[in-house]
Amino acid sequence: MNSSFASRLLAWFDRHGRHELPWQHPRTAYRVWVSEIMLQQTRVETVIPYFTAFVDRFPDLSALADAPIDEVLHFWSGLGYYARARNLHRAARIVIECHRGQLPQDPAALEALPGIGRSTAAAILAQAYDRPMAILDGNVRRVLARHRAVDGWPGQARVASALWSIAESLVPESRAADYTQAMMDLGALVCTRSRPACSRCPVAGDCRARLQGRVAELPAPRPG
Ligand code: ADE
Repeated sequence: MNSSFASRLLAWFDRHGRHELPWQHPRTAYRVWVSEIMLQQTRVETVIPYFTAFVDRFPDLSALADAPIDEVLHFWSGLGYYARARNLHRAARIVIECHRGQLPQDPAALEALPGIGRSTAAAILAQAYDRPMAILDGNVRRVLARHRAVDGWPGQARVASALWSIAESLVPESRAADYTQAMMDLGALVCTRSRPACSRCPVAGDCRARLQGRVAELPAPRPG
C-alpha cells in the first residue's frame, strides 16, 4: 500500500520544494495575499523583484490602504493586468473600514473582497494560517487531471467541479501551508505542461495518466 498522496508530496517538498520565496519569510497574511495576487497571472521569477519592492514600500495593509492609487500602480508597472493592483488597493481599504484592519479568516468573507476568488482565498488561508483548504490554480489542475486521469477541458464547469472534489479529498489536516506550496511546486517544477519529469515525481506510482500512457494528452485543451 502506498503512503498517502499528501505524505509522498510533503516528503518530496522537504527535499525539493521552494522554501526561500520572499513571501515565506515572514509568512504573514498580508504578504501572502500580495504574492498570490501578483502570482495570479505572472511567473514566480518575474514576481519576486516586484514583490520585494512592493512590500518594502507598503509593508502592511494600512500602508497600502493609505497610499494613493497612482503610487500603487507605479509599483505594479511592468507586471501587467493592472486591474489586480486596483482590486488589491480597493480590498485593502475595505479591510481597514469593514474588518478592523485584519484580513478576514473566514473563506466567504475573504472571497467577497475584490480580486480574491475561491482558489486565491484558499491559498491565502492555507499558507498564512495552515488551514486545510484546497487550491486549484493552473498548475494544480494539471497535476490532478493527470493523477486521476480526468478527461475534459478544465474550463468546463463539470470538469472543474470534479477537480475541486479531488483537490479537497487530498488536502491533509496538518501541514496545509507546506502541502499547498508543494502542489504548486510540483506543477511548476515536475508535472510541467510540455515536458513532465515523471521519473522525479513523488506520486508517479499511482498516476493514472502515466499508467495509461496519456500524460501528454491531459489535461485536455480547450475544444475547438
Ligand atoms: N502560484 C500561485 N501561488 C504560488 C506560490 N506560492 N508559489 C508558486 N507559484 C504560485
